[in-house]
Amino acid sequence: MNITIGSDHGAVALKDEVKMVLKEYEDIKVTDVGTFGTESVDYPDIAEKVCADVTSGKADLGIVLCGTGIGISIAANKVKGIRCALCNDVYSAKKAREHNNANVLAMGGRVLGFGPAGEIVRAFVESSFEG
Ligand code: RB5
Repeated sequence: MNITIGSDHGAVALKDEVKMVLKEYEDIKVTDVGTFGTESVDYPDIAEKVCADVTSGKADLGIVLCGTGIGISIAANKVKGIRCALCNDVYSAKKAREHNNANVLAMGGRVLGFGPAGEIVRAFVESSFEG
């Protein structure tokens, strides 16, 4: 499975943590589209890059991160073909895949601790659409 991940400056540390979590999965290849520092960037630009990989088929799933996850999830959901779910808990992440066929997960770097965020990511990538 290919996953493209991106964050604005509000969630760079969480992005690194999510990438560590995804290393647990031998069959997951991660592409990181940035940002890589603390300098301010516009989250819609990051959402656009991640979503382009998903809609083109380069990525099976996307993960978008910003301070709250709100802005970047709104931006992602403006892209045709994207179903982005902002999840702050494991149950929502599982149901976003199973019931909503979400293809992009959003989380907030200033909202979630690394532990809960890791569990949310695991639930998202381990669940699939039930039809
Ligand atoms: C950036 O400071 C912050 O506004 C952004 O990361 C995000 O939280 C917006 O929804």
